[in-house]
Amino acid sequence: MSVADDLRIDPWSSQQSTDYARIRDEFGLGTMEGLDLPNPGMLHRRGIVFAQRDLGVVLDAARRKNPFGVLTGLMPSGRMHLGHSMVIEQVKWFQSQGADVTIAVADLEAHATRGMSLEKCRENALKEYVWNYAALGLDPDRTSVYFQSSRPIVQRLGFTLGKRTNLSEMESIYGFRGETNLAHVQAPMVQAGDILHPQLDEYGGLRPIVVPVGVDQDPHIRLTRDLAARTNWFNVKPRKSGGLSIGLSVQDENSAKLGVGDRGRIDRNVRGAIFDSIHSALEPLGFADVLSNPKHGLIELPGAASRDRGAVRMALLALERNLGGMGMLPPSSTYHRFAIGMTGDKMSSSRPETTIFLDDEISVMEKKVKRAFSGGQSTVEEHRRLGGDCDKDVAFQYLLTFFEPDDAALEEIRRSYTSGDMLAAEIKTICIDRATEWLGDIAEKRSAFEDRIDDFLAPDAL
Ligand code: TRP
Repeated sequence: MSVADDLRIDPWSSQQSTDYARIRDEFGLGTMEGLDLPNPGMLHRRGIVFAQRDLGVVLDAARRKNPFGVLTGLMPSGRMHLGHSMVIEQVKWFQSQGADVTIAVADLEAHATRGMSLEKCRENALKEYVWNYAALGLDPDRTSVYFQSSRPIVQRLGFTLGKRTNLSEMESIYGFRGETNLAHVQAPMVQAGDILHPQLDEYGGLRPIVVPVGVDQDPHIRLTRDLAARTNWFNVKPRKSGGLSIGLSVQDENSAKLGVGDRGRIDRNVRGAIFDSIHSALEPLGFADVLSNPKHGLIELPGAASRDRGAVRMALLALERNLGGMGMLPPSSTYHRFAIGMTGDKMSSSRPETTIFLDDEISVMEKKVKRAFSGGQSTVEEHRRLGGDCDKDVAFQYLLTFFEPDDAALEEIRRSYTSGDMLAAEIKTICIDRATEWLGDIAEKRSAFEDRIDDFLAPDAL
């Protein structure tokens, strides 16, 4: 068995690998090293967000005060719990860095794969999710929630992009088989529509879009990135001898416009005009040398640095749009590890004892924390001697991931629990105190937003 067979990540499975370093390496995710996040959030500082794809593109836009967006989606079934709040924490952080926020309610997906009526999806999405997102602090003026079912362009994009993939690819990404329900094939296509449509002119135009996800969702990101890249008319690559090269990607849709005529013959006039437009598109970037080979559809920029690649790509995507192409930038993404479930295994909405729901009563939360899996030793004597295990202790992990924003306070708890000074019952009490504050704050903010949920909705969602 190959290693890749062994390590499939599956957005629909309840079983997840937690070997994050291995996932990162095998699926080619980037690390967070050297990215230099401005004012990093708690999930960043604590290594809970552990990987990314093309996040640099987004950070660069933020740094230059160029527009960029963040997109996430929600399944409108079930109740919102702590696990879901991790994505919203990150969305909030991107928003604080200047991102516009788009949120997809996956009502078509829930309807097709879980048999929920669209009315029920709407009701549940607003009450369980959007309301809590409001309470968690998203800014209503720069947040736009829409429903898959009422945004035809999203469905159309999913349909159109279907041309860029096939069943074999769906099989190798998702493990689909002959008996796989086609709703499961369509859902990722609609999701690709969700992720890419904010770049359309009607939804904000060409700009980097980042999708923060749990690592189980990476198959969707990979698919969407590949689909977008396959529509591109110009490929920008590092050149072997330094600099960048730009190649034409001739496809059925664009061959005439790129100067490829019958039987592959190059139409010199058309090709020449395209090359002129590429030169003009690159002009503002100010490269001294632009070497053209129209016949081979190749342009070389020997003096370009690898950090120029983003600007070159953006200029060419804009040109592609002017010429009638889609001009889609593959989305960026970030990946967070999963918080452990309260019983010590996986967190799951279908098992309420494994997580805390955002509207759990304090007494319910308290009971769950008291029963939660502990990293303490079985007797006080042993605990004093050996200390507690923070990696396994639910109370510690929940302070780390959700409830204790103060790094110094958290480190003090870690130190004293690990050394055995702090007992399991004591760390649970701290966790309960912090969680009480956290849930109390959310309940209060929920009340404040009771009549203002519509402020978060896009016009087509009202
Ligand atoms: N499939 C996602 C889930 O199961 C929901 C979703 C739909 C989504 N569209 C999205 C997530 C776009 C991120 C981006 O939770």
